[in-house]
Amino acid sequence: MMRGKTIIVTGANSGIGKATSRELFGRQGRVIMACRNRDRAEEAAREIRQQAGPEHGELLVKVLDLASLKSVRRFCDEIIKEEPKIDVLINNAGIYQCPYTKTEDNFEMQFAVNHLGHFLLTNLLLDLLKRSAPSRIIVVSSKLYKCGEINFDDLSSERSYDKAFAYGRSKLANLLFALELGRRMEGTGVTVNALTPGIVRTELGRHVHLPLLVRPLFSLVSWAFFKTPEEGARTSVYLACSPDVEGVQGKCFADCQEEELLPKATNEEVAKKLWDISEVMVGITT
Ligand SMILES: NC(=O)c1ccc[n+]([C@@H]2O[C@H](COP(=O)([O-])OP(=O)(O)OC[C@H]3O[C@@H](n4cnc5c(N)ncnc54)[C@H](OP(=O)(O)O)[C@@H]3O)[C@@H](O)[C@H]2O)c1
Repeated sequence: MMRGKTIIVTGANSGIGKATSRELFGRQGRVIMACRNRDRAEEAAREIRQQAGPEHGELLVKVLDLASLKSVRRFCDEIIKEEPKIDVLINNAGIYQCPYTKTEDNFEMQFAVNHLGHFLLTNLLLDLLKRSAPSRIIVVSSKLYKCGEINFDDLSSERSYDKAFAYGRSKLANLLFALELGRRMEGTGVTVNALTPGIVRTELGRHVHLPLLVRPLFSLVSWAFFKTPEEGARTSVYLACSPDVEGVQGKCFADCQEEELLPKATNEEVAKKLWDISEVMVGITT
């Protein structure tokens, strides 16, 4: 039961984020859907409310574009002004293998949305999360972190851009962020854990254009083998609600079980360096 709990879910209008919001709303949580497009978010909220049972919590929509540091700052200002506490922050929004794009802040899009935007968001909400302790931060990563490296010499992909590598890098950054933040939050009552949801049937593949002939086969395979968004949301919901993970810090989960990571995702030195560089990139000093 999440009655009396306030939960922020980023990217809540689609896929895993929408299914997570639906479930937490059904458990009577107060869910803040943090989305870049108000209309799409209101539409998703309407649908969730319509399909809900008699017992449910509250759904609020707020605009958050993680590709814009200005938007992240505006969102956090509002939250800090309006919310006395945040019990759970779920960094869920993500973008996958888009063509090379620079954000208004001059960052590569996948690194900006998946890592830097969430990095700034979490840091700006950290005092509130600490005041709300025990509170939880949940980072949605991906097993495709294995395809990335933190190439510190070209984090904005100015020298070369490989969209699969850039996605993997951003998801590796999510894990290193969770590791370093977990270390920093020791003793504060704020826990930080990551998860990999598995392969889930969502809108994430919108930038991947399959040849016409392959599409029916892909649909068939995805219906047969991919998780539904509800199944994909299970570990996010588990980490948000379960007493089993009370006090658990800096771990990664898959299918509601602790998952072992490759050494590159548990390298404390790289995690610290990425933290410092990310602070400079988003313009915060602590
Ligand atoms: N699906 C999978 O198989 C899979 C596997 C591993 C990991 N994941 C991870 O799971 C998370 C959720 O993805 P999904 O599969 O549910 O995909 P999805 O259906 O495409 O949902 C992604 C969400 O992120 C939002 N988003 C994208 N760019 C944003 C921005 N600049 N600012 C704010 N929100 C933004 C999208 O908003 P719009 O609708 O407005 O674009 C959407 O709500 C991602 O972090 C992804 O990396 C997914």
